[in-house]
Amino acid sequence: MLVEFRPHARLRGKQPADLGASVLPVVAAVSASDTDLGKVRVVCDWVQYRNNFRDVVQLRPILNGDLEIAVDVRRAADAPVGELTSALLRQSPDRVYLEDWRPGRDSCVWRFNALYWSALDLWEKATGRGYEQALPGGESDARNRAAAAELIGELFAVWDRLAASAALPDELYVIELGVGNGGQAKVFLDEFRDLDRHRGTAYYSRLRYLMCDYSAHVLDLARETVAEHTERVSSFVLDATRPRTSLGFLRYKAFLVYISNVYDNLPTDEVAQLGGRTYCVHNRACLPGEEAAELAESVSATVDELPALVHKLLRLGPVLLAEACPDHFADTDAAVRFWQDTWAALRLAERYVPLAGLDTYPLTDTLTGEALRPLLESGADVRMHVSNGAVASFVDTLGLLHPFGKLVCHDIFVDDIQGYRTTFRGPGKYDGSVVNWVNGPLLAHVGRKRGFDVDYAPFRHRAGGHVVTMTAQVRD
Ligand SMILES: C[S@@+](CC[C@H](N)C(=O)[O-])C[C@H]1O[C@@H](n2cnc3c(N)ncnc32)[C@H](O)[C@@H]1O
Repeated sequence: MLVEFRPHARLRGKQPADLGASVLPVVAAVSASDTDLGKVRVVCDWVQYRNNFRDVVQLRPILNGDLEIAVDVRRAADAPVGELTSALLRQSPDRVYLEDWRPGRDSCVWRFNALYWSALDLWEKATGRGYEQALPGGESDARNRAAAAELIGELFAVWDRLAASAALPDELYVIELGVGNGGQAKVFLDEFRDLDRHRGTAYYSRLRYLMCDYSAHVLDLARETVAEHTERVSSFVLDATRPRTSLGFLRYKAFLVYISNVYDNLPTDEVAQLGGRTYCVHNRACLPGEEAAELAESVSATVDELPALVHKLLRLGPVLLAEACPDHFADTDAAVRFWQDTWAALRLAERYVPLAGLDTYPLTDTLTGEALRPLLESGADVRMHVSNGAVASFVDTLGLLHPFGKLVCHDIFVDDIQGYRTTFRGPGKYDGSVVNWVNGPLLAHVGRKRGFDVDYAPFRHRAGGHVVTMTAQVRD
């Protein structure tokens, strides 16, 4: 039996995690069962997200005959983890499944995520709080004026040099992917206008600021926020994982592509290297039996009808769902309640499926899993995010950059693969959205192969946060 206690830093300090309480009852329960002890791994994480997709104890079949038992140390001290383990080893838990097994990036949790952004107003009305309050630190770093002023100063320096050699184009393109409420765009545009006025360079009148998001609703909000700058701004409904499908006309023209808190919100798989073999983690979204029964009763449905109602919600959204199913939902508010209760109860079952070979694993439409090899073979066993959506977005975006342009991204990056061996990196739930840390070494590897310098630095304008700034620009 292998026991892996990942959050070892928590064994020290004022309130050390209780290793005995979280691990020993689990080991005792496995020993008392007839499970082959040579085939069991017990892994302990500290799941820091209060809202997440896991139970305190979770069984994960490894499809080579082994079994992983995962324990959330944060909740283990207050839970009967031994009894939970014994029960799970005796029989499969009572669950209502919403989908079949599939790689994480294809799970319906991403449809929930998209629904959250497309119907953000309804969610926020029901909770009475804005999405930014769920972000780390309670506000977006995208609104930070000092950070915007610094970035604009760097842009102006590049443009001054190009202007001096008559190489500056008439139109100066800046793209923002995933604009949220437009707070960042407003800070950027206000600062830009003021600094430019002060310098007398008239760059503001040449600026073309493109706000992009897959949620038409979010874009409407952002347009209102930047109403003062309407003449400088255009907006595009597009998928951030494929910006070039709509912005192909800007190839090699963008001086700045700006992205904050979006990569951590794009679909991802997880892969693992365990005992010399490589696996993809497959997920299956489900509802615990008891919560499913309550949920079904709350909308006058049977438990069997629940999956179809959930999928109808994901297809139609709460407004049309209430219109289409008046027997279950008296009005939109009732449909929103159903949406929020379903999301709160949602879990992800997990299992490890062997990968035939990294070259057969489609990391994105254009990259194979070979890009993962140096990271997976970097030492001890590891489980990490593939950040498929972020990698696809990153690669597609690089093709938009002007030779003197750059991509600037504020997000929660894991900047060293070792960071996956010690700390839980998602998925968690931020209100109605999904959050996963982003695989920084993978993005750096992919960018460098394409001739870009990719750097990571702690976000300098706010102390104590986890946010990192990634900058990518053509190598000198
Ligand atoms: C957490 S918010 C961040 C908003 C803003 N950048 C900030 O830092 O406050 C994530 C934004 O990304 C957008 N988004 C998420 N997935 C997307 C996708 N696949 N394509 C385009 N936009 C996406 C959401 O609609 C939302 O506006």
